[in-house]
Amino acid sequence: MRAALLSAVWLSTLALARAFNPLHHSGPAAPYFDAPSQAGIPKEIPEGCVVDQAAYVVRHGARYPEPGSYTGWVTLYNKLQNSSTPYNVTGPLAFLKTWVPPVDDPAHMPLYLSGVGALESFQLGVQLRNKYKFTPGGGNLTVWSAAQERVLATAANFLRGYLAQGSYVNNATLNRGAIVSMPDSVNWTSADSLTFTNGCPNYSNGDQSGPMKAVWSNLWQPRVAARLNSLYVQGELNFTASDVSVMGDLCGFSAEVDGDTRFCDILTPDEWLDYEYGNDLNYYYGSGPGNPYAGTSAWPLVKAITDLLVAGPGKTTGAGTFTPAPLIMSFTHDNDLPPVIAALGLWNSTLGVYPLSNSTRSADRDFRSSYLVSFRGYVALERLNCTTPSGSSQYVRVQANSAPIPIPGCVSGPGSSCPLAQFAQYVSQDRLQHVGEFVSTCNNTAANATQGATLITLGVGDLVGEGS
Ligand SMILES: *[C@@H]1O[C@H](CO)[C@@H](O)[C@H](O)[C@H]1NC(C)=O
Ligand SMILES: *[C@@H]1O[C@H](CO)[C@@H](O)[C@H](O)[C@H]1NC(C)=O
Ligand SMILES: *[C@@H]1O[C@H](CO)[C@@H](O)[C@H](O)[C@H]1NC(C)=O
Ligand SMILES: *[C@@H]1O[C@H](CO)[C@@H](O)[C@H](O)[C@H]1NC(C)=O
Ligand SMILES: *[C@@H]1O[C@H](CO)[C@@H](O)[C@H](O)[C@H]1NC(C)=O
Ligand SMILES: *[C@@H]1O[C@H](CO)[C@@H](O)[C@H](O)[C@H]1NC(C)=O
Ligand SMILES: *[C@@H]1O[C@H](CO)[C@@H](O)[C@H](O)[C@H]1NC(C)=O
Ligand SMILES: *[C@@H]1O[C@H](CO)[C@@H](O)[C@H](O)[C@H]1NC(C)=O
Ligand SMILES: *[C@@H]1O[C@H](CO)[C@@H](O)[C@H](O)[C@H]1NC(C)=O
Ligand SMILES: *[C@@H]1O[C@H](CO)[C@@H](O)[C@H](O)[C@H]1NC(C)=O
Ligand SMILES: *[C@@H]1O[C@H](CO)[C@@H](O)[C@H](O)[C@H]1NC(C)=O
Ligand SMILES: *[C@@H]1O[C@H](CO)[C@@H](O)[C@H](O)[C@H]1NC(C)=O
Repeated sequence: MRAALLSAVWLSTLALARAFNPLHHSGPAAPYFDAPSQAGIPKEIPEGCVVDQAAYVVRHGARYPEPGSYTGWVTLYNKLQNSSTPYNVTGPLAFLKTWVPPVDDPAHMPLYLSGVGALESFQLGVQLRNKYKFTPGGGNLTVWSAAQERVLATAANFLRGYLAQGSYVNNATLNRGAIVSMPDSVNWTSADSLTFTNGCPNYSNGDQSGPMKAVWSNLWQPRVAARLNSLYVQGELNFTASDVSVMGDLCGFSAEVDGDTRFCDILTPDEWLDYEYGNDLNYYYGSGPGNPYAGTSAWPLVKAITDLLVAGPGKTTGAGTFTPAPLIMSFTHDNDLPPVIAALGLWNSTLGVYPLSNSTRSADRDFRSSYLVSFRGYVALERLNCTTPSGSSQYVRVQANSAPIPIPGCVSGPGSSCPLAQFAQYVSQDRLQHVGEFVSTCNNTAANATQGATLITLGVGDLVGEGS
């Protein structure tokens, strides 16, 4: 009986290990994947409804490491190559002896898109053209992008996919895309930005990510280093906590940069969950709901999008001189997505779970960096027009990486969506009250500081790319 039970446990552990995909727990290092459904809400557009307008805030596609992370890879490489005493590595570490960092052109790779990043951007374009059918053949789309090259390259590849249909390639007037480039990571743009946290001086005062993540890292990384050293290392080579951190990042990065998943086999599933939680703490307390100024900084953009959804497709708002297409696309960086989640009051309401603990991984949390800031991750707001016996009604649903997220207190519509008027009130009143208005809460003391995000309807920014 006991043996049968044990072998059943052993078998289900094996099944779990096989089903477990470290790339789905790799936070910001993960290539894009669709997040699993949340709270049982189906992903399909609810029956009887059509999406007549949608706004996306998208992280750039998969890229090479930042220069600082690349230095960490080289440090690991040098440690392996330059050990002063002989060593052997076995098991999942055996490949390390001949491993070479997957960057063969260091002058042009770190920080820029990888081929996978270009591909996933193109794919999003194809997917959204087919999903919404907003743009007829020969049509036109203007998108907004923060100005760093990897972000602009994502926007350009998106447009190539979005406008890839038909025989228009050589026609300079048809099937055109335009990119409005926004100043990136500067502090003089107030809220009129896709890198809005830089215009919020108080944002850095609210950032607790460093100390919170450090507490957590000290709990799990030395334990993993000791396990690896005792099981798989002979000789005096000694892996440290920071080596464990680099190896964790190399799972996602090696997979997307050159298809090598050997680093993904080093940690156990439980250790991958610890690695993932470290990323969750980093984003939750850095740019997410745990930083009191994150939601403040993104609220103006959320409000501008909400106003456009209320106005409906084909209309502009406020002093608008530009009427955006029904698909409003903006491209930016990882740390600009959690503020949107915070402004909307999402992934932060389960009692006893939030604010997140720095020492216990709660399985009940909704906040998962892997489901939001994976490469090419996104937050999308869709306006639904649903037929009812007496005519039609409009609703809003929010999605992260394809999974609809329930809006606290507002799920009475089809597919747990939020009635449009109620959503508008939730954003304009409840959320504003919680996060505070931009200029004073952020303590932006510039004489020309402004409150709103007008970029979409005033065409603020430079038109950089035209053509498809
Ligand atoms: C090893 O050490 C030498 C001397 O410090 C250095 O030049 C070299 O780049 C290091 N790395 C490798 C992989 O040899
Ligand atoms: C590495 O493995 C070889 C072959 O098994 C063995 O001869 C050598 O002593 C080992 N070196 C160390 C440092 O354990
Ligand atoms: C496409 O959009 C741009 C930017 O809004 C506009 O200037 C241009 O006239 C449009 N082109 C066509 C063919 O509609
Ligand atoms: C481009 O499209 C326009 C409008 O359909 C058409 O008049 C023109 O001949 C096309 N040009 C080329 C080079 O195909
Ligand atoms: C605000 O003023 C500063 C100079 O004081 C200027 O550099 C900046 O461009 C202005 N910002 C905007 C959005 O006009
Ligand atoms: C970790 O969390 C505990 C309990 O909430 C808190 O007392 C402590 O200050 C936190 N540590 C840091 C470094 O923020
Ligand atoms: C390995 O490194 C850790 C952290 O630097 C250190 O505490 C430990 O003593 C080292 N172990 C050996 C056997 O050198
Ligand atoms: C997230 O939840 C915590 C704990 O309830 C709260 O203090 C914080 O204000 C919330 N953040 C946002 C952006 O609503
Ligand atoms: C919703 O869709 C119905 C049916 O297509 C249409 O008649 C109605 O005008 C739409 N309502 C709005 C507000 O767009
Ligand atoms: C700005 O941040 C500081 C430090 O957290 C805080 O004392 C101050 O009240 C904040 N300002 C506003 C307007 O919230
Ligand atoms: C607001 O910013 C100014 C500098 O621009 C600084 O002197 C002041 O202390 C800040 N106030 C708060 C409450 O953070
Ligand atoms: C932007 O940064 C500069 C340099 O640190 C500083 O002098 C200026 O006050 C900042 N502007 C705002 C609006 O925070």
